[in-house]
Amino acid sequence: MASRIGFIGLGVMGSKMARNLLKAGYEVVVYNRSRPAVEELLKEGAIAAGSPMEMARDCEIIVLCLSDSKGVEETVLGGRGLIHGFAPGGIVIDTSTIDLGVAMKVAAAMKAGGFHFLDAPVSGGPEGARAATLSIMVGGDRSAFARCEDVLNRMGKRVFYLGESGSGLKMKLFNQALVGVYFVAVAEAYLWSKKLGVKLEDLQSVISTSWGDSPPFRHFVSVVQSGEFKGGALIRNLKKDLSIVLDSAKQEGESMSLAELAQEYVVKASEMGRDDYDISYLFQILDEIKSGRRDRLPAERPIS
Ligand SMILES: NC(=O)c1ccc[n+]([C@@H]2O[C@H](COP(=O)([O-])OP(=O)(O)OC[C@H]3O[C@@H](n4cnc5c(N)ncnc54)[C@H](OP(=O)(O)O)[C@@H]3O)[C@@H](O)[C@H]2O)c1
Repeated sequence: MASRIGFIGLGVMGSKMARNLLKAGYEVVVYNRSRPAVEELLKEGAIAAGSPMEMARDCEIIVLCLSDSKGVEETVLGGRGLIHGFAPGGIVIDTSTIDLGVAMKVAAAMKAGGFHFLDAPVSGGPEGARAATLSIMVGGDRSAFARCEDVLNRMGKRVFYLGESGSGLKMKLFNQALVGVYFVAVAEAYLWSKKLGVKLEDLQSVISTSWGDSPPFRHFVSVVQSGEFKGGALIRNLKKDLSIVLDSAKQEGESMSLAELAQEYVVKASEMGRDDYDISYLFQILDEIKSGRRDRLPAERPIS
């Protein structure tokens, strides 16, 4: 079993996941496009790499947690990408949520070089990343998966091997179609319940034991209670994920009217400059759209 793991992408999710690998006793080599996130992890015992290629010379297993398809493609296949540094058998565990076609292209290029690419998107939000309770959905070569099981188990509570390349992403996209619709539904119901005078604390205690409960509902309540909307499970990410879902549905000749509606609100939030806000903030966007007001934005305090 590898004792040294590479980690690229130390954002909201990746920084917490890398920290859990450190806590588990792995030697963790880190790289991030911008430097401040690296400094934090170095203080906690991580080692810095100068580039993805340099990291791949040192690590046989490298975890990615990047924003989007472009970042993954560049990091793996780019000029100083991982593919140029790996020894035969090197494995990328990509926990990012990206376009299925790009994941398949990167997986094919890795396979042609004698390496493995596991699509391994995660669910559970920043809370799950911090507590190492993520669900991780994995597609790719089974023997490569077996070599990574301990690493995956240190970042998640439930790790699912789902089959060939792309299987993890397909499952994650299903999840995101639901997440988009749930958050808009929670936002709408919450605005209405406020008008009825129902207290958030009462919603929390009653709905958490009723059929209306869901992890998105619980996340929504905790974020609204904290009043900290900046950071967290980002509107930018949901916009990207729903766009991948809707593109994929279009390619298959499927229409997904509820996911399309959710995306309309998410895009509106993005146009209002709320890309870096938690998706719980959609209730404010709905409220503003309904009332035509723009003067009720809550205080901007970052989610730690
Ligand atoms: N947040 C959630 O609740 C959540 C839950 C499940 C899954 N995810 C997925 O996990 C992934 C990461 O999400 P996050 O919330 O951690 O995002 P984030 O905080 O925005 O972090 C994104 C990371 O990707 C890096 N990056 C972006 N573009 C890049 C590029 N072109 N080249 C190299 N590095 C690049 C960023 O580097 P810089 O620091 O230099 O910008 C940063 O380290 C996304 O695919 C997201 O969909 C997120």
